[in-house]
Amino acid sequence: MNSLPHLNGRAALAWAALEGLAQPQKRIPCTWLYDQRGSELFEQITDLPEYYPTRTEIDLLRRHAREMAAAVGCAAVVIEIGSGSSRKTPLLLRELQAPRAYVPIDIAPHCLEASVASLKAQFTDLPMYPLVADFNQPLRLPAELPTPAGRHLCFFPGSTIGNLDPAEALAFLRRMADTLGPEARMLVGVDTTRDPAALIPAYDDPSGVTAAFNLNLLARLNRELESDFDLAAFRHEARYDHHRGRIEMHLVSRRPQEVHLLGKTFRFAAGESIHTENSHKYPVDQFQTLAQAAGWQPAGCWTDGEEHFSIHLLGRRRS
Ligand code: AVJ
Repeated sequence: MNSLPHLNGRAALAWAALEGLAQPQKRIPCTWLYDQRGSELFEQITDLPEYYPTRTEIDLLRRHAREMAAAVGCAAVVIEIGSGSSRKTPLLLRELQAPRAYVPIDIAPHCLEASVASLKAQFTDLPMYPLVADFNQPLRLPAELPTPAGRHLCFFPGSTIGNLDPAEALAFLRRMADTLGPEARMLVGVDTTRDPAALIPAYDDPSGVTAAFNLNLLARLNRELESDFDLAAFRHEARYDHHRGRIEMHLVSRRPQEVHLLGKTFRFAAGESIHTENSHKYPVDQFQTLAQAAGWQPAGCWTDGEEHFSIHLLGRRRS
């Protein structure tokens, strides 16, 4: 399996923690939530009744994947970003006409191996090229990839694009446009929900799975960097920023305390937090404006009846 040497290494985690915890608003990028345990907990989140995005998106794919696939055409090379368990992938692959290759990209190697193994059993003739990579870094497609007879299709479900702030999302979409070329298409899942009454329970479920997912970050730091976070001294919090249209996850210190990590001491006041994730929500027209600014042309959009979630089809913008 291809892998970038800097990625997920202990040194990169150490750097992210030392840099992030030294900021006035302490923060650690959300990519670090996904170690093996974190990926398992995230899979559990997707099954929670309060977490509407996954089931809404799966339902949209069940109903409309045929139409989406028809718009993509035959012999496409499918590149999936943040593929995780690849649970949604078969819904699309089975509708595509003679896809040439499947390239799942994720930062969690154990997820990639398991999902490719199960997809290979279902799509026996489809060559697969799993890639361990961080989509925030420039994407280098595997050299062995067949030249697409059709077009590149980037499948980016899960509203993972919402983890980027709008400026980063714009830069990401521009990079994808450059990498994938003038015939490319994208299918992007985007959370459209702006109602705090739906959002807060989705990110702070009563069964505590999301809290465990967030707190696992501290457990990971303790495991991999031998820090001394007391998990009982932090609590999970989901905050909705109305102005920015985003949910933030924080780990809030329950009391004044000191934490030691790689020879450094970090002080927390009571109520002070580490910001661990952003999840931006985009109404349909706002996301289309963003995509256009990045060189893409909206070519279709499917939403559920309650407009909780959307799947956007993008083509390239002709200048
Ligand atoms: C799949 C990464 C987009 O932001 O909704 C779920 C991650 N965080 N619950 C999201 C997540 C807390 C999820 N993403």
